[in-house]
Amino acid sequence: MANGVDASEHSDALVFFGATGDLAYKQIFPALYGLIRDEGLSLPIIGVAKAGWGLDQLKGRAADSVKAHGGDIKSEAFKKLLSLLRYVDGDYNDPKVFKQLRKELGDAKAPLHYLAIPPALFSVVASQLAKSGCADNARLVVEKPFGRDRRSANDLSRILDQYFSERNIFRIDHYLGKEPVQNILYTRFANSIYEPVWNRHFVRSIQITMAENFGVQDRGAFYDSAGAIRDVLQNHMLQILASLTMDPPTGQAHEAIRDRKASLLKAVRTLDSDDIVRGQYTGYEKVPGVKPGSTVETFAAAKLCIDSWRWEGVPIFIRTGKCLPVSIAEAVVQFKKPPRETFGEIDSLGCGHMRFRIQPDVTIAFGTRVKVPGERMIGEDVELILTRQPGVDKPPYQRLLGDAMEGISDLFTREDIVDAEWRIVNDVLGDVTPVYHYEPGTWGPSEAKQLIGRDGPWLDPKPV
Ligand code: BG6
Repeated sequence: MANGVDASEHSDALVFFGATGDLAYKQIFPALYGLIRDEGLSLPIIGVAKAGWGLDQLKGRAADSVKAHGGDIKSEAFKKLLSLLRYVDGDYNDPKVFKQLRKELGDAKAPLHYLAIPPALFSVVASQLAKSGCADNARLVVEKPFGRDRRSANDLSRILDQYFSERNIFRIDHYLGKEPVQNILYTRFANSIYEPVWNRHFVRSIQITMAENFGVQDRGAFYDSAGAIRDVLQNHMLQILASLTMDPPTGQAHEAIRDRKASLLKAVRTLDSDDIVRGQYTGYEKVPGVKPGSTVETFAAAKLCIDSWRWEGVPIFIRTGKCLPVSIAEAVVQFKKPPRETFGEIDSLGCGHMRFRIQPDVTIAFGTRVKVPGERMIGEDVELILTRQPGVDKPPYQRLLGDAMEGISDLFTREDIVDAEWRIVNDVLGDVTPVYHYEPGTWGPSEAKQLIGRDGPWLDPKPV
C-alpha cells in the first residue's frame, strides 16, 4: 500500500477506465451529467480505453448516452461536461498510456480512478497507475463483480492493497446507492416499534425477491461467465439481507453501520448444494456470446440461515432471475401466527408481515388480519401501505460517484464484507448443483417450490 489521500480532501480529477464501454454508456456519463447539473461538479474528467478512438468520438458517445438516459444535450450542464472531458487511448499494458494520463492529470493532486473494466484487468491497471505516479494520493473505485470467488477476491484485495489503502478503495454495489435500500435501514432504526419484534420470537420467515422480466440482452458473453449467483445474489441480494437483519449500529463511529453489516454477513451460514436451486430460461443458449450447452444459471433460489440468537431457526429465502413474470424487487418479513388460535379460522402458518418494495415503486407496507364486518368472527388479510413513492430518486451511480469523490465510504462495500459475501456462496458456484430449465415469463423451475416446501409458498411480488 502506497498512499493515503486525506478523507476530507475532495478529488480534483476523475479518470474512468473503460470509457467506451457499456457501463460508461449506461451509468457513468448520465451520472457525470447529473453531478454537473445538480451539484456543480467541475473537474477534469479523463476517459481511458483501448478503442482507437479520439476525443470527438468520446464526446459523441457521451451525447448518445446522455440523450438515451433522458438528459438534455443542449443544456449548459452537457456543454460543461464536454468541456471537462479528455481522452487517452491505448493498451493498459503500455506504460506510455499512463505517461499520457499523468500529463492529462496536470496539476491534479488527488485524482479518483474508476475501473469500469473487467476484473481481470484491475491488477494491471492498478500497478501501471502506481508506476506512473498516477496512484499518488489517489482514490480507486472498482466495479462489481469483485473477483469470481472467495479466493480470487482475496487475491485481488492483496494486489490492490499494494497500491491503495483500504480507505481509498471504493467497491461499488449500486444497490447501496438506492434510496429504498437505505430506507430499510432508516425505517428500522428511526423507529422503536420494529426492533422488539425483529427476531426469532416473532418472525416466521423472510423472503427477498429480485425479479427481472427481461433476459440477458446484449450481455451474453459477460453473463455467461458469471451467472445469477455471482451477478446479483452474492452482492445486491446479500446487501438487502444485511440491511434487513443486521443489529442496530452502536456508538457514533463512522464505521458503525458497516461493522454491523459485516458481523451479520459473517453469521450467515455457508450455502451447500441442498440450499440452492439453479435455473436457466429456455432460449438463453441462443443469446449471442453464450456458449452452446452452457449450464450457467439465469435464476437462483436459496435458503439461508443466520447463526445468531436473533435469527436462530428463522428460514430466509432469496430468489432472483431473468425472464420472470415481472421486474420487481422486494423483501417480506413474515410474522408468526399468535401462540393460541382464538377464532379457529387461520390455517396459514403466518399472520401479518412487513413488506419493503425496492423497485419499481418504493413501498413500505404492513400486513395484518382484520375482522370482516358481520356476525361471525372471521377475518381477512389486509395491507396498510405506510408509504409509497414512485422510484424517481437520484440515480445510484450519481450518488455513489459523488460520495467517492468526497471520500465518503459508507455506501461502499468493505473488504471484509466482500469476503463474507463470497464465503456464503463459494461452495455453490459453478456446476455443483444441476441447472433446471424454465419457460420465460414463469417464476423459475418447479424445484424452487420444493426448496421452500412447508415454509412457503413463495410470495410472488405483484405489480401495483
Ligand atoms: C447489475 C447486474 O449489477 O444489476 C444486472 O449485473 C442486473 O444483471 C442489474 O440487471 C439490476 O440493477 P437494477 O438497478 O436495474 O435493479
